[in-house]
Amino acid sequence: VSGAHVPALVIGTGYGGSVAALRLAQAGVDVHMIEMGRAWDTPGSDGKIFCNTREPDYRSYWLRTRTKAPLNYFLGFPIDRDIPRYTGILDAEEFGGITVYQGRGVGGGSLVNGGMAVTPRRENFAAVLPSVNAAEMYDVYYPRANAGLGVGLIDPAWFDTTACYQYGRVGRKHAQRSGFPFVFVPDVYDWDYMKQEAAGTVPKSALAGEILYGNNHGKKSLQQTYLARARATGRVAVSPLHRVTSVAPAGGRYAVTIEQLDDTGGVTATKTVTADRVFFAAGSVGTSKLLVKLKATGVLPHLNDEVGKGWGDNGNVMCGRANHMWDATGSLQSAIPCCGIDNWAAGGAFAEVAPLPTGIETYASFYLSITRNPHRAQFSWNAAAGRVELNWQTAWKQPSIDMAKTIFDKINAKEGTIYRTDLFGVYKIWGDHLTYHPLGGAVLGRVTDGYGRLAGYPGLYVIDGALIPGNTTVNPFVTITALAERNIEKIIATDL
Ligand code: FDA
Repeated sequence: VSGAHVPALVIGTGYGGSVAALRLAQAGVDVHMIEMGRAWDTPGSDGKIFCNTREPDYRSYWLRTRTKAPLNYFLGFPIDRDIPRYTGILDAEEFGGITVYQGRGVGGGSLVNGGMAVTPRRENFAAVLPSVNAAEMYDVYYPRANAGLGVGLIDPAWFDTTACYQYGRVGRKHAQRSGFPFVFVPDVYDWDYMKQEAAGTVPKSALAGEILYGNNHGKKSLQQTYLARARATGRVAVSPLHRVTSVAPAGGRYAVTIEQLDDTGGVTATKTVTADRVFFAAGSVGTSKLLVKLKATGVLPHLNDEVGKGWGDNGNVMCGRANHMWDATGSLQSAIPCCGIDNWAAGGAFAEVAPLPTGIETYASFYLSITRNPHRAQFSWNAAAGRVELNWQTAWKQPSIDMAKTIFDKINAKEGTIYRTDLFGVYKIWGDHLTYHPLGGAVLGRVTDGYGRLAGYPGLYVIDGALIPGNTTVNPFVTITALAERNIEKIIATDL
C-alpha cells in the first residue's frame, strides 16, 4: 500500500534476499519483500506452473518476443522461436559484450538454475572472498547454508546404473582416461524423487527435460526452503510483479519507490513506502544497476567510487565434444547435472558434465566450465540513454577458453575426438557469449563494510551476489547463501 511504513524492506527474493527475510523475521522484525517477477504459484491452462525446454512458451522469457536459448543452435540450425511478450521466468539481459541469464520471480535464480550446490574447496576460498574469515565460513556458515538449502548428493551406485546418467558416465570415463580428477557435484534436487521418476511412479521433471524455465517437481527452489520457512514465521510479506526504482534518504528512514507491473511488463501504478532498513538483494546485476543509477543521479550521492566495479562472469564458457558411436550419451538425460571435472589447480577450470536433454541420441558430451578468468568489468550510468551499461568485452572470454582447453584438448587427443561446431552457431565451438553466474558490482569491503553495510548510509545493506568479486571457483549460490547467513547474523546482533 502506498504510503505504508515497514521496518525492513528487501529488494529481490533470490538467495541473499531469502536468507535476510528468514533471519530478520526469526529475530522478530516484520519484513516486506519486493520482487519484480511473478509469484510462480499458479498453473497455466496446461495444468503446469512451468514450461519445458522442449516447448518454450509465453512463460519462458522475461519480456521478449523471441526465445533466446543459451544453446541456440542444433546441428547448425537456429532453434529460437517467437513467443508472446510476458513476464516470463528467464531473463536474457543483453549488455554490449555479454548476455547475462537471470531468474525472474519469487525465488530468483533458484527457479531457473540447475540446483548445483557446490562449496568451494577451502584452499581456494582466500581468492573468493579475501577479507572473510575462512574458518568461520567452513565451520558455521557453509554448513548452515547447505542445511537450509537442502543440499544432497546422488547415490553413486544409482549413478553407475541408471540410463539417465549415461552421459555422466561417459563424461567420467573420458575424464579419468585423460588423468583428470572426476567429482560428484551436490544438488538441491530431491534425488529420491528422481529415482521415482526413473521408475515411472511419479510425474517427471528432471527426466522430462525441465530446467531453465522452472521445474514442476523435484527441485527444491527457495520457494520450498528458505522462503517457506520465512513465510511460516507470519512476519514476511511478498509483493510479486513490483519493481523498485529508487531508494532515497527521508528523515532518518528511506523512501522506496516501487512500480507495479502487469503481465506484459507495463507499469500500472507507482507507489512509495518508507522503511527503516533496506536490503539490496536484486542480484549482482539488479543491485549494481540500482546503486550505480542512484549514485549518478544524486539520490545516494555519498556512495563511494567503488560502486559498479569488480564485476565478473565466474569465467563461464560452454562447449561440446563429438563422441564416437560407441560412446553414446543416451536419449534419456536427466536435466540436472551431477558430476564434473576438477582441473582448477592445474589449469584454472572446473567443468560440469552437462546434459543435452533433447530426447534423442546426440553422441555429444556437453560441458559448462567455470574458469579463473581475471577480467573484471564495470557498470556505469549512461545519462543520455537513461540506463546502466556494462563494459565487458566478448574477447575477455579468451582466458576462459584457454583454461577450458586444458581439459578438452587433452581429452580430444586421448579419445581421437573433436569439438562440436554446431551448438552455438555455424562452425562455432565456444559458447563465449553468456554467463549464468554474474558476481560483483558492490564488492564486500569496498562498496560496503565487511558485512554488507553500505558506506555513507546507515540502514542500507547489500546482501546478494553483488558482494562477491567476480569468481567463486565453482557454482556460486552456496557461497552467496553462506555469506548472507554470516552477514545477517552480524547485522541482527549489532544493528537492531
Ligand atoms: P538472484 O538473481 O537469485 O535474485 C535476485 C532477485 O531480485 C530476482 O528474483 C529478480 O527478479 C529480483 N529483482 C531484480 N531487480 C529488482 C528490482 N529492481 N525490484 C524488485 N526485484 C528485483 N548457481 C549455482 O550455484 N548452481 C547452479 O546450478 C546454477 N545454475 C544456473 C543456471 C541458470 C540458467 C542461471 C540463470 C543461473 C544459475 N546459477 C547457478 C546462478 C545462481 O542462480 C545465481 O548465482 C543466484 O541466483 C544469485 O543469487 P542472488 O541472491 O544474488 O540473486
